[in-house]
Amino acid sequence: MKYSLVSARQKGRNRFELSFLQVLISPVVAAVLASSLAGCSKPPPPPQALSLYFVSDTRGRLVPCGCFSGQYGGLTRLKTVLDRVDPATSVMVDVGDAIRGVEDYNLMEYRYMLEAYAAMRFDALNLGQREAQLSAEQLRSLAQQSPVTLISANLLDSQTGTPVCAPWKMIQRGSFKIALVGVMDPRVPAENLGRGLALEKIEITLGKLLPELKRKADFVVLIAFTDEATLSRLAQDFYELDIILGGKVSQPAQALEKQNRSLVLYTGNEGRALGILRTRLDARGKLTGVDHEIRLLEDRIPEDDSIRVLAERYRNEVRSAKLSVDDPANLQENMVPGVKTVAAYVGTPACVGCHTGAAKVWQDSGHASAMETLISRKADADPNCIPCHTVGFGSPSGYRREMAGHRLADVGCESCHGPGSLHVEQRQNHQSVTFKFRPLGAGDCQQCHHGEFSRPFDWGHFWPQIQHGNETSNATASARSGGKL
Ligand code: HEC
Ligand code: HEC
Ligand code: HEC
Ligand code: HEC
Repeated sequence: MKYSLVSARQKGRNRFELSFLQVLISPVVAAVLASSLAGCSKPPPPPQALSLYFVSDTRGRLVPCGCFSGQYGGLTRLKTVLDRVDPATSVMVDVGDAIRGVEDYNLMEYRYMLEAYAAMRFDALNLGQREAQLSAEQLRSLAQQSPVTLISANLLDSQTGTPVCAPWKMIQRGSFKIALVGVMDPRVPAENLGRGLALEKIEITLGKLLPELKRKADFVVLIAFTDEATLSRLAQDFYELDIILGGKVSQPAQALEKQNRSLVLYTGNEGRALGILRTRLDARGKLTGVDHEIRLLEDRIPEDDSIRVLAERYRNEVRSAKLSVDDPANLQENMVPGVKTVAAYVGTPACVGCHTGAAKVWQDSGHASAMETLISRKADADPNCIPCHTVGFGSPSGYRREMAGHRLADVGCESCHGPGSLHVEQRQNHQSVTFKFRPLGAGDCQQCHHGEFSRPFDWGHFWPQIQHGNETSNATASARSGGKL
């Protein structure tokens, strides 16, 4: 588990509603906030509660993939948590990187995610660097059609210099107007920025925008897809910001920071950690009390059925759609440029006759039923799942979605050893053996066994379960008999 801090702390908790990492703001800061009110002459009306809920880095996780039990996260769980929240006193935003990637099916999935965010009553989604890989045209059309508001103040159309979607959104809670402003870190390599887009420095964007917003709003919240250091710097540079919610970070915040006039809190972690900032506003929109929490979306949180339905609708749509990955002409051989591909995938049945020992071990392992697993989840046509549950998906001779029940379905010999056509040819026809499979190790397993897709990978634990390769007798005999076994 990558996020050991919280998983360790949450041990012993057995109800998901329990909050942990709940830290009251330091007494010093509270005193400062209180003293800033002291000059007030007429008695202020009772403070109004306002809670901000935010996630970041969700990267397509409508539902957890289910690769092992005990997975965290997914909009399915986020919905369950946010359903308990009173929208009249809360603000809900996504800091960025909600989309998984820029493939056609990623975009399809993102549309269902936008529906999910709307169902959760999100006020706005800020664009992150993954969204900025789409083209200006795609973003404009998404922003127009989206059931939830997309914002970004510094992602601009490179032709016109104007934002491709709303730069900010004004919302009302009680008597207060709250401006939500979205920005993202402009340090993006040119090749990772979508067609027709340009990024402006955050400081320049805010310098232009904030004086106006400060006049219109009682309260300004910056939603910033950028790293910890930049979040601090923005707080130092712009007194107009009341709250900064961040997202492009290595780990969720361990503490709430008070910098200049701003409260800074951030989260990330593949959408598995929900940031919560609870505040009270006095009559003039000043913060009078604050606490915060980073709540992990643990596996005990029930998954919301309506979001599961959206995920199913995505999988149905992707099943019948014609996608770019379906056409071998669009697939790049992962080879040295200019050098013709040497070997192609031939499928496990081509190996089992000679390597009977290895074949038996394989047949008894989960690898041999990896496609069955996807079928049981109705995910067998989802390109998000297929690469690790088949042979060579994404390479011209590898598995394609039209190949249901094909010899390249499941994790086969060549998923680990690589394409075997030359090996089979040379071994079968008694040619001189010039082709050699490369030696494998734990790193080859971890291409699939990593992160949320696997229990923590430990060679000493995993390899013995599928150990093979010493049973060479059959292959050797086969070689002697010219492959006619
Ligand atoms: C990065 C590679 C990768 C991707 C992508 C991937 N999986 Fe997996 N999946 C695995 C691995 C590895 C395991 C075995 C994990 C383990 O044993 O701890 C697994 C196991 C599973 C299992 C559990 C099988 C069982 O019976 O124990 C399910 C269900 C599953 N995956 C579904 C999916 C779905 C659905 C998707 C797409 C949303 C997906 N996977 C995408 C690598 C992947
Ligand atoms: C015609 C019989 C035959 C077929 C079919 C065959 N092999 Fe082999 N394979 C051999 C022989 C013979 C060796 C030499 C080592 C030995 O004697 O086991 C070998 C060796 C290997 C090795 C060790 C590394 C190397 O390059 O020598 C791997 C890995 C391997 N085979 C995988 C495969 C895979 C994967 C397939 C299917 C794509 C396959 N084999 C199909 C006969 C065969
Ligand atoms: C191409 C992706 C991929 C690679 C590479 C891969 N695995 Fe897996 N592995 C999977 C998937 C997918 C599953 C789950 C299969 C299922 O049950 O549906 C899995 C399951 C397992 C299991 C669970 C036990 C079982 O039999 O169900 C073990 C053990 C395992 N893998 C070991 C390894 C080892 C060791 C390596 C490296 C030598 C490796 N895997 C490489 C995809 C991969
Ligand atoms: C999950 C990954 C994985 C799968 C699937 C897999 N192998 Fe292997 N195989 C390995 C690893 C790892 C080794 C040991 C390290 C090495 O020899 O490179 C190995 C070793 C071997 C060897 C001995 C290599 C040598 O140099 O002596 C042969 C032969 C072999 N595998 C054949 C097969 C065949 C045939 C299949 C399919 C029936 C298969 N393997 C499926 C990962 C895999």
